[in-house]
Amino acid sequence: MSEKINIHLQPIGKSLKVNKGTPLVDVLHEFGIEFPCGGKGICGRCKIKLLKGKLELDTVQQQKLQKLGLGNDWRLACFCNAETDITIEVSQFENIILADNTPFRFQSKTGFGIAFDLGTTTLVAQLVNLENGHILNSVSDVNPQARFGADLISRIQSCLDGNQEELQQIIRRKAGEMIESLLKEHPVEVSKINFVGNTAMHHIFSGISVAPLAQYPFHSPEIGSRHFTPEQLNWNLTETDIHFYPSIGSFVGSDIVAGIAATQMAFRDEYTVLVDLGTNGEIVVGNREKIVCASTAAGPAFEGAKISQGMRAATGAISSVTFENGKIKSHVIGNVPARGICGSGLIDVMAALLETGQIGIFGEFENGEEKIEIAPGVAITQQDIREFQLAKAAVATGIQILLNKLEISFENISQVFIAGGFGNFLNISNVIRTGLIECNAEKIVKLGNTALIGVKMFLFEDDSFVEEILSKATHINLEADPAFQDIYIEKMMLN
Ligand code: FES
Repeated sequence: MSEKINIHLQPIGKSLKVNKGTPLVDVLHEFGIEFPCGGKGICGRCKIKLLKGKLELDTVQQQKLQKLGLGNDWRLACFCNAETDITIEVSQFENIILADNTPFRFQSKTGFGIAFDLGTTTLVAQLVNLENGHILNSVSDVNPQARFGADLISRIQSCLDGNQEELQQIIRRKAGEMIESLLKEHPVEVSKINFVGNTAMHHIFSGISVAPLAQYPFHSPEIGSRHFTPEQLNWNLTETDIHFYPSIGSFVGSDIVAGIAATQMAFRDEYTVLVDLGTNGEIVVGNREKIVCASTAAGPAFEGAKISQGMRAATGAISSVTFENGKIKSHVIGNVPARGICGSGLIDVMAALLETGQIGIFGEFENGEEKIEIAPGVAITQQDIREFQLAKAAVATGIQILLNKLEISFENISQVFIAGGFGNFLNISNVIRTGLIECNAEKIVKLGNTALIGVKMFLFEDDSFVEEILSKATHINLEADPAFQDIYIEKMMLN
């Protein structure tokens, strides 16, 4: 059995036991910590202060720290593995909220607020000091509705089968518990709790029927803001406005509105793209004049669903794969034996198989194998490759159609922001190699959990901020585009 060590996280006061040698990235990303430059040591956003114990400091890291003006007790989490018991102070838990690597300007307010990203798979909440923007505490958990179906469609189906009331109670109770635990260590009065999530999560939480989301024309008339009092939700709080933000369309929710805020897309002259590879694949393209957005039929392949040994980016998942000396080498989150493969690992595998000629441009195994082993006990099947092709074609087609709508091409795009739980682990050159996003690597920026960044921004803004974003945004039905089929078939190829 591998040796275990303890990691204490400050200032949130959490302790965890992990295998010796576990990369800190694996531990911290589950707490909503973002790694915007993808661990290149450029942004310094993952900086941590070593309070107790030892963390290796090689010369490369030392130089990076010096460049960032940080002393010897600092480390970059993206460079470190936990080899001994350590206590670290994680800057992002306390720092001023950042978006796009730039501190966003906010009007200092009084009091405290909670930002809540209610995802289909994961729930993340942060307690924020509204005077200075400091994060006082963070909690994350899996969405307990998962037992009613991993993806959105099965969750909606379960509601239609008569479980909506139960799903609503489960999520309200869980969110209430998470808020309670945030406040346990910092017993402050919270004036605002802001929620964002996709439209199905909005409807279930708010007690609105999801039936319109399940039948043609898939148009729900109730996608607007919802406000609640703590009594309505059975939460033990006083005088708190609980606000679930509005969606743009039936399948483009307030998590994407928050993502648009995080990218500053609605306030820039140049065009940018936001791709959220979460349970739904949502895409947004635009600038201060006009924003078009769509959800794709990508399905949850990037979250591990529909892949025979797929799983989300959690302990035991193969999160990255490299091809060295003729052999596939995989990295497993948490430094434990592999249990499955997550979205970023899947993209890497596809790139490696293409590179080595083990699959052709139609995705077929060249040597007639039934599956290819990636790590002991974890393999990729022909059907997995097909699922990947469908998902990547859906995303690539969505981007192409939205670019067409604005009569622009990738040439006109200054940056492509990638959001989504596994973004931290994405290898950008493999994203490009597989044709998922067809632009230069320099334009691609991993922005982490954009929904969480955006919903924190909302704590400092009044309603006009979100109204301005909504007034510029148009929801596009991709399948209704006459070129959809042709583009989709072309994007299925892996050239
Ligand atoms: S320095 Fe950018 S993620 Fe570590």
